[in-house]
Amino acid sequence: KENILMDKWGRQMDYLRIAVTDRCNLRCFYCMPAEGIQYLPKKDLLSYEEIIRITQILAELGVKKVRITGGEPFLRKDLMSLLHQIKSIDGIESLNLTTNGVLTYPHLDELKDLGIDHVNLSLDSLDRNNFLEITRRDEFDKVMDTLHGLVARNIKTKINMVVMQGKNHHEVSAMARLAEDKNISVRFIEEMPFNGSTFHQEENWNATQILNELRNSYPTIEKIADEKNSPSTEYQIPEFKGTVGIIAAYTRTFCGTCNRLRITATGHIKNCLYDEGVLDTRQLLRGNYTDQEIKAELLSVVQKKEANGFLAEANRKNNAPITESMSTIGG
Ligand code: GTP
Ligand code: 5AD
Ligand code: SF4
Repeated sequence: KENILMDKWGRQMDYLRIAVTDRCNLRCFYCMPAEGIQYLPKKDLLSYEEIIRITQILAELGVKKVRITGGEPFLRKDLMSLLHQIKSIDGIESLNLTTNGVLTYPHLDELKDLGIDHVNLSLDSLDRNNFLEITRRDEFDKVMDTLHGLVARNIKTKINMVVMQGKNHHEVSAMARLAEDKNISVRFIEEMPFNGSTFHQEENWNATQILNELRNSYPTIEKIADEKNSPSTEYQIPEFKGTVGIIAAYTRTFCGTCNRLRITATGHIKNCLYDEGVLDTRQLLRGNYTDQEIKAELLSVVQKKEANGFLAEANRKNNAPITESMSTIGG
């Protein structure tokens, strides 16, 4: 047990989320202000060599699943070469990607050949004008091409829709219907407070409201088994090929079964979505440290993982609003 990332509560970190960039080509208003955020200079980002090395080290410590996030991962030059290299690391059994779909379509054949395990696609509206309003960019067609391309290639796909009162809550039922003839999971997400300026929980739809809306439209909806360690509560509408899910990202925490470790674009390890980074691996990777020394740091930092990171952070900050963008954190 000395060589795996097990915290003091008995949770094993076998799922690594790697943010490869903080940049994005959309401006989803729950994530960023219209003018965007102050992007990091290139030299501050981990290089692909550094990402590979830290992932190898983490794989030796028991990480089996990797998810690539951002910002938008495809804004990072030559992303596919990174994916190929990660896929070939010993011990990495599953490689996944979260993308907004704008630049994804041209890479679908290669993703399929590579054996990508899951692609999670952000899509907040099925209406071009509403999509433009929410994302502030007129990229709806490209995202829909990506969705259809994923389905055509039988790449396992999950759709992420952040449900917002007054913006897209009226589209919940229509969005669910995407799973009628497609074997995908359509997931409805509670908005989290990651763009400090716009977050008003009282106005937001929560998991209960989302489920009520689905029950109204699809009375035969039934609960099915959830994927292990997944934040999504899954449902089946009997006549549908795919499933629907609800991610109670704000009203419920998944801390009890959390198996996630995050690494930001600058190489900071996060034990939790909500912490501010607990270890600067960039400094270790760029310094004269051996793999053994880096492993020791990682093993020790996981011991600091809080039982409930969301509450711990709220207490530390005295409930002050979070100003960081999801684009920097990696979701
Ligand atoms: P899989 O379980 O691998 O499918 O991934 P996922 O659903 O965790 O990843 P994805 O990138 O698709 O994120 C979906 C939503 O869940 C986003 O809004 C994430 O920010 C949110 N999310 C992911 N991990 C956590 C977590 O640890 N805590 C909370 N509260 N939300 C999370
Ligand atoms: N609340 C909930 N989900 C968010 N995402 C981005 N910002 C937020 C937020 N404030 C989602 C995106 C993407 C996933 C990685 O995180 O829609 O699908
Ligand atoms: Fe939207 Fe994701 Fe880009 Fe943020 S990172 S602006 S949520 S597409």
